[in-house]
Amino acid sequence: MIILGIESTAHTFGIAILDEKGKVYCNIKDTYTTEKGGIIPLEAAKHHERLKYEMLEEALKVSELELKNIDLISVSQGPGLAPCLLQGMHFAKEISKKTNKEIVGVNHCIAHLEIGKLKTKAKDPVLLYCSGANTQIIAYAAGKYRIFGETLDMGIGNFIDSFARHVGLGFPGGPKIAELARKASEKDFVELPYSIKGMDVSFSGILTNLRQKFDSGKYKLESLSYSLQETAFPMLIEAAERAMAHLRKKELLLGGGVACNTRLQEMAKIMCKERGAKDFCPEAQFLVDNAAMIAWQGFLQKKDAVKPHTEEFSKLDIKPYQRTDDVEVTWK
Ligand code: ATP
Ligand code: FE2
Repeated sequence: MIILGIESTAHTFGIAILDEKGKVYCNIKDTYTTEKGGIIPLEAAKHHERLKYEMLEEALKVSELELKNIDLISVSQGPGLAPCLLQGMHFAKEISKKTNKEIVGVNHCIAHLEIGKLKTKAKDPVLLYCSGANTQIIAYAAGKYRIFGETLDMGIGNFIDSFARHVGLGFPGGPKIAELARKASEKDFVELPYSIKGMDVSFSGILTNLRQKFDSGKYKLESLSYSLQETAFPMLIEAAERAMAHLRKKELLLGGGVACNTRLQEMAKIMCKERGAKDFCPEAQFLVDNAAMIAWQGFLQKKDAVKPHTEEFSKLDIKPYQRTDDVEVTWK
């Protein structure tokens, strides 16, 4: 079976082609970026609209396939920005009409988890999902992927990007902050508010504090970047460790764009080693928003014959506010 995946929840437009064994024929993406300011949803949607045909053509070319070889279309249904999601959904419907093939709508967050499992062979992990908009501790329990902890305000990535934007680094800020942080060390650490409640975390207090410190002109950006990572990442690791202890799970899986950060990966490794657990992290192309995960998730839902997660064409719609635990896991 050949599955075409379309990702368009936010700034990234992606197209991927996979087979039922999880072999990735192509996984291409293009990200809408800005020099200043945040994402303007309508502008991001226009970016997706502009690129969709050429990207589909490229994906087919790289895969050495034609549209008629596609057996199933999978599209991210939510959560995400409505104008961006609509672009993906309309495009999926257009391809479905052309090919007469079924569409499966999938949850973006669950797709992050399932591609991680596919690529790392983790079996029943606690997922530390750290992306731009989302920060969640997710694990399987009683029929659903449940959220055991999450951010009470913004996602870790948006927090880092907001600070980066404040100091004039542009978007995305994550990699730039990481680079600056590498230039500092323990002696440069400045105290920031460490905010964790149970398995929930919050970042707005740290963001305000960092902005004030930067504006005061008394601190080097390298020290602030280092301190940001050394404060926010341990919060995530602590929340994930608590979830692993409560749930008695022995695997930690990283997901989301911020998990590309090697310092976060290192902290995850240390924590797992200390508690005799295994840590898993797929390669970067499957951490950031990507269409391979959407294609794979679509396949999982389709192959589940007892209760397939497919909806009638006319009823198939975007779900901008869909939560991870809204979805019944029937494919496990
Ligand atoms: P979601 O829709 O799942 O919330 P998203 O649309 O924000 O995710 P992702 O690609 O998962 O997209 O994550 C983007 C975030 O990852 C950005 O905040 C960016 O700064 C951060 N990021 C990307 N690469 C790196 C890196 N190498 N190091 C640190 N952060 C990174
Ligand atoms: Fe994502």
